[in-house]
Amino acid sequence: MIREAIITTVSPAGKVHVAPFGLIAEGNRWVIAPFRPSTTLDNLIAVPYAVANFTDDVRLFAGCLTGRRDWPLVPASKIAVSRIADALAHAELAVEKVAEDAARPRFVCGIVHEETHAPFGGFNRAKAAVIEACILLSRLHMLPRQKVEQELAYLTISVEKTAGPEEAQAWSWLMDEVKARYATAGS
Ligand SMILES: Cc1cc2nc3c(=O)[nH]c(=O)nc-3n(C[C@H](O)[C@H](O)[C@H](O)COP(=O)(O)O)c2cc1C
Repeated sequence: MIREAIITTVSPAGKVHVAPFGLIAEGNRWVIAPFRPSTTLDNLIAVPYAVANFTDDVRLFAGCLTGRRDWPLVPASKIAVSRIADALAHAELAVEKVAEDAARPRFVCGIVHEETHAPFGGFNRAKAAVIEACILLSRLHMLPRQKVEQELAYLTISVEKTAGPEEAQAWSWLMDEVKARYATAGS
C-alpha cells in the first residue's frame, strides 16, 4: 500500500524542503524511499525527521514537479520540521532505521504525532488524473513519447469533465512542462 503525500524535511541550516513522495506502508510505520540524488534524502540523513502532509490540493504535487515549491508552512507540533499549512491532515515522523541502497535507500519512520485539520471532501477524478500525470512527468525520460501522449490524452477526459480551478491550474502547469521538456529534447 502506497499513499501519495507531500514530504517536508529540513536541512541542518534550517531550510525546509517540500517534495511529493509515495509513502510505503509497513505495519504502523511509513517508509520514505528516495532515489539518489535527492535533497529529501540528504536532509533525512542530517536531520532524521519528516512530516507527511496529506492533501487533496493537487497543485502541490504538480507545483513541486514544475519548480513551484513555495507553499505556506507552519510549525509542526512535536518535531522541528515545518508542515504544509493547508493540509487535510499530517503525520510527524522520526526515522527509526535506514536500509542503505546504492540507488534507493529506505527510511523506515515511526509516527511521533498525527493531526487532522479538515474533512476529506470525497473523490475527484481530475485530482486522480493530475497525480497520474505527475507520475508520467517524473518518468518522462524513461517512457516512450507515444505512450506518454496516449495516457495524457486519456487523463485529459477526466480533467475536462470534473476539474475545479485548482485541478485545472495544476493540469496546465504539467502540460506546459511536458511541452517544454519535449521541445528541449527535440523529439
Ligand atoms: C506522486 C509522486 C510520488 C513520488 N514518489 C517518489 C518516491 O517514492 N521516491 C522518489 O525518489 N521520488 C518520488 N517522486 C519524485 C520526487 O518527488 C522528485 O524526484 C523530487 O524532486 C525528489 O527529489 P528531491 O528530494 O531532491 O526533491 C514522486 C513524485 C510524485 C509526483
